[in-house]
Amino acid sequence: MKNEEFYGQAYQDPEFVRVYQETRDALYQRIGRVIRALGDTYALDIGCSLGLLVEYLHQQGVSSWGVDFDLPQLREAHAGLSCSQNFFYGDVAELNISIPTQGSAIILLDTLRYVEDPQKLGRLGAQHLIIKEVSPNPVIRHLRRNENDGTLYTPARLARLFPGYSLERLYGSRFLFSVSRPSSATLAVLSWMPTYTALLTRH
Ligand SMILES: C[S@@+](CC[C@H](N)C(=O)[O-])C[C@H]1O[C@@H](n2cnc3c(N)ncnc32)[C@H](O)[C@@H]1O
Repeated sequence: MKNEEFYGQAYQDPEFVRVYQETRDALYQRIGRVIRALGDTYALDIGCSLGLLVEYLHQQGVSSWGVDFDLPQLREAHAGLSCSQNFFYGDVAELNISIPTQGSAIILLDTLRYVEDPQKLGRLGAQHLIIKEVSPNPVIRHLRRNENDGTLYTPARLARLFPGYSLERLYGSRFLFSVSRPSSATLAVLSWMPTYTALLTRH
């Protein structure tokens, strides 16, 4: 099923919406801490869902923006936020905006795997990319066999995807630990983590 159609149906399910309303706060706060530590003042959340990370960062004084499919449930959720004007609607493949080249981050939380031509995101010019993904080891592939996943990325594959960026830090599942500039041997071991978040910095 095409992604937009899949999410168009998914966001009509209150249980699916509840996940993004009620279970993502801790993750969004961790991302906020990373943005603060970097000193970034601009953030673009691609696949922003209900917009709660965009709202959280906005309240922290970051110029924050979100992109997601043009779905009535998402427009309605965004309309109730204090940063309601800060959303772009449509497939990110069509996104055509300019992003500050310094002090800026593009964030993709569990979204990169749905994006066609993801390399394009590395050409938008942000100083940082913050990407949370699941690693396609055999256990994860089995557990996710019924998901609508597109391309899954190991940390090593993700690091190679954006030649203009280097992998600055890799956070383990739930940010329980992090590794600075991991070697390829470390990356190979870390591909066994179920999920990870990568921070990449433009050269
Ligand atoms: C798994 S959800 C993650 C939501 C949010 N980033 C989070 O982690 O809490 C993926 C989101 O990406 C959006 N999405 C997927 N493919 C997209 C695309 N090509 N363009 C814009 N949004 C997309 C979906 O509509 C959905 O809201």
